[in-house]
Parts: sequence; C-alpha cells; structure tokens
Amino acid sequence: MATKHILIVPGDGIGQEVTAVGKKVLDKIAARFGHTFTYDEALVGHAAIAATGNPLPDETLTKMRASDAILFGAVGHPKYDNDPSAKVRPEQGLLKMRKELGLYANLRPIKLFDELLDASSIKPEILKGADILFFRELTGDIYFGDKGRKNNGDTAFDIAEYSRFEVERIARKAFEAARTRRKKLCSVDKANVIETSRLWREVIQKIAPEYPDVEVEHQFVDATAMLLIKDPRRFDVVVTANLFGDILTDEASQIAGSMGMLASASVGDGTGVYEPIHGSAHDITGKGVANPLASILSAALLLDISFGMKAESEAVISAVDQVLKAGFRTRDIANAQTPADMIKGTDAIGEEVLQRI
Ligand code: IPM
Ligand code: MG
Repeated sequence: MATKHILIVPGDGIGQEVTAVGKKVLDKIAARFGHTFTYDEALVGHAAIAATGNPLPDETLTKMRASDAILFGAVGHPKYDNDPSAKVRPEQGLLKMRKELGLYANLRPIKLFDELLDASSIKPEILKGADILFFRELTGDIYFGDKGRKNNGDTAFDIAEYSRFEVERIARKAFEAARTRRKKLCSVDKANVIETSRLWREVIQKIAPEYPDVEVEHQFVDATAMLLIKDPRRFDVVVTANLFGDILTDEASQIAGSMGMLASASVGDGTGVYEPIHGSAHDITGKGVANPLASILSAALLLDISFGMKAESEAVISAVDQVLKAGFRTRDIANAQTPADMIKGTDAIGEEVLQRI
C-alpha cells in the first residue's frame, strides 16, 4: 500500500476529456489495490497562455517538481499552426517542461492489440505480432540548439547538437530495455551525412561490448522509415535522436491502428511524464468522441515505471484488452463491420474499462 501524489496536466483540446478518464482509472486502481493517490491539476499550452500569457507557468513547474508522477494530456491550438510569426506558442510549454524536468528519454511502445489488426492500413499478415519499443532522445538535437534568422531574415538556421553523455545515457536505457525483451537493439541515425549522427554511432559502438547479450544493428533513418512499413516485426528496441524519433514514432503509430491507442513515457532525472502520443485534435474537441485508451494506457505506464506497480499496470492493460475483445470501439478504431451500438464515446468506453479493473 502506497501513498502517491499525481499531477494531472490536461493541456489543450481533447487533452481535457481523455485525462479525465485516465484519472478515473488511477482512482479505480487505488481503490482496488488499497493505495492512496492524491491529485492536483495544472495548466500548460494554449490553456496556460490564455490564463497567464505563459505556456508553462512557474506555478505549473513547481507543482510538477513536487509530484510523484504527471499524467499529461496534449498541447496545441489551430490558431498558431498557420501563424509562423507567433512568438508565444503552446508547444514551447511542452519543450520547456522536457528540458526543465530533464526528461531525456521518451519511451513509445508500439504494440498492436490483436483485435485491432484490421484497424491498420497495413496488411494484417505483415503486422501480426509486431511489438516495438522506441527510445526517442528528448532534450537535445535540432529541437534545442541555437536557431534564428540572418541576412535580414531571408536565411534561417537551426543547430543540431549532441554531446557524448547525452547519447550514452539514452543508449544505456535502450540497451537495458532490450535485455528484458528480445535482445535486439536498432540504432537509427544518418551517419552517412550528419556529424551528430556520426557521434551517435560512435557512442553506441563504444558501449555495445558492455551488453554482449544484445544484438546491435545500425540503420540510416531513411531505411528505417521504409522497413517499419515493409517488415515491422524485425524491430524490437529502437533508439534514435529527437527529430528522427518524432517522425518515426508517428509513422509507427499506424502499426498500432490508430494514434488514439498509443501511450508514452518521458523519464530522466526527475518526475516522469505520461501522455498519449496523439495531439490536441481540436477537430473533435468537446464532441465526446475522443479515444481515451491512450490516456488510460499512459496511466498504466505511469503505474509501472514511476511507481513500480506491475500488477496494477497489468490490471489496466488487461481491462483495455477485454474491452476490445468484447467488441467495444471508439470511432477512430471502428470499421465498417462494427455494429453501431458498439461504437462508444469517450466516457462510455472509459466506463467499460473501469468495470473490468
Ligand atoms: C511529440 C510532438 C511534439 C514534438 C510537438 C508538439 C512539439 O509532436 O511529442 O511528438 O515534436 O516533440
Ligand atoms: Mg510528434
């Protein structure tokens, strides 16, 4: 029996709706397993800009540092997407949070629930059994280097930078995870062109002998983009830099049928952050149709990684599996054969999960 303090940071758009369901799941777990979870809430993204002018207010950061784990929703607002001149943007809140909390490792598990084989646009026989764990580096690369304009604004630049220790610490996490899985690690870079990639490859090669039980493969990112679709089952653990990881994990989400199913964990020096990989989805916000399963599965990752509660985490995953087996779907994972009465809204499918915990 444990006492833990969880910060709920819904953010923008459907973040509000899905984290509300994720929180109910955490509550149910606390009740079932005799834990005490206390909660607080904080603003980020457009919601925080609207209230304070700052996408990551100090008050939010203070609450984040004081919590044992963070359940995060999504940030973003369409009003900024077509306004490249906006100086204050919701995404800055997310990036600052990652840097301030030292969240250098972003884990994105890509696992297909068997019941959703036909929800993907990739052929079932190519997909069946695919199970990939991405380690995306999250606090370096072109995301955080110097950026700016020169030549009176007619030339723009973004500097990509990596230090040896930054590559090494994420690589070690990936090697260790591979040890607990199928013992295969694919390191993705662009070492034929990019200098940071050459350092990346050098570091991986240097520490690989410390993990003789793990089979290491190096791939160029363009080849990985192709192989993920051609033969997703060849991958076990994949480790890559921030920008490549951003792109490849959106691509890989299609292996799981829908972005609405995928959870992620961001961990490192301090409090861990758990969030769906989908965005704020303003096109469906407030309609009650958003898929909360990624937030629920993020709660499962939170229980496992930040609290070491394996049985609790498995109870959540198994409840989601049972809901899918029973035939319930949200709109995004339904198909032409799904009976209309089995297509559920955000709260209703959440209820089905709660009942099975
Ligand atoms: C992600 C998102 C973010 C990123 C955006 C919203 C800044 O795409 O978490 O993958 O690029 O890291
Ligand atoms: Mg992304």
